[in-house]
Amino acid sequence: MDMMKSARKNETGEVGSDLSEQIKAATKDNHVRAENTQLMLSYQKGEITLVQYKVLLCSLYEIYRALEDELDRNASHPAVAPIYFPQELARVESLERDLEHFFGSEWRKRVIVPAATLRYGQRLRQIGRENPELLVAHAYTRYLGDLSGGQVLGKITQKSLGLSSKEGLSFFHFPGVSSPNRFKQLYRSRMNSIELTEKEKAAVLEEAVQAFELNIQVFDDLQKMLSVATETADQHKDRSPAAVLPSS
Ligand code: HEM
Repeated sequence: MDMMKSARKNETGEVGSDLSEQIKAATKDNHVRAENTQLMLSYQKGEITLVQYKVLLCSLYEIYRALEDELDRNASHPAVAPIYFPQELARVESLERDLEHFFGSEWRKRVIVPAATLRYGQRLRQIGRENPELLVAHAYTRYLGDLSGGQVLGKITQKSLGLSSKEGLSFFHFPGVSSPNRFKQLYRSRMNSIELTEKEKAAVLEEAVQAFELNIQVFDDLQKMLSVATETADQHKDRSPAAVLPSS
């Protein structure tokens, strides 16, 4: 039997041989885990705070700088060229506008890079140097996520932080993409046009799982960092003279 044909998606919902289908299937469980991180759960409940959002923006800035530097540098690589859409997708400039909005004109001095974010950035730069054919796994994970659940998160952010209009929310807006759904379809077909050996394809699927894990680690790290910061602030509050004075 023709192996390729038998691997196509059939009525029973089997996963086909297209990269776009395989990558979605391979990362399905990881997506559920990412959605269920503490940070994403509070996000969905509209409980994101300004402090959390500001640190998240710092992390996203580090991640997208690495991702887009590497995509730019490898733009003509045969496994990158079909999915290279800087006009439509590039996020670095929009993140810079948002950071300036929240941190002021001296934002560059105030941007922090938490440990798990640094590791994610390092992985992206390593892949860009050593295995550019794996960049598609990372571009898929971030950009298709931003064009899916990310659109809802943008609206929640605006509401939770009480922001008027689009100020500080450039990250969620893709002026070059008029229909996220149609663009996602185009992106999937471009992914499917990349010529990969079976071995390379398996490596891309594995890297996509890693990409989700790196995101989960970034979220967990932020959550931990911020709860420690809050506890410390609470302890200081308890030790403040007013707190230890007898309340006569
Ligand atoms: C797709 C929700 C977090 C990556 C989607 C879709 C929804 C969604 C509704 C569309 C599914 C479809 O078209 O079949 C959410 C929600 C999240 C969340 C509510 C958190 C609150 C994340 C995170 C990542 C991510 C953290 C990775 C960093 C993706 C990707 C897709 C996607 C890559 C495209 C799947 C595909 O069509 O192949 N998400 N998501 N999502 N999401 Fe998320």
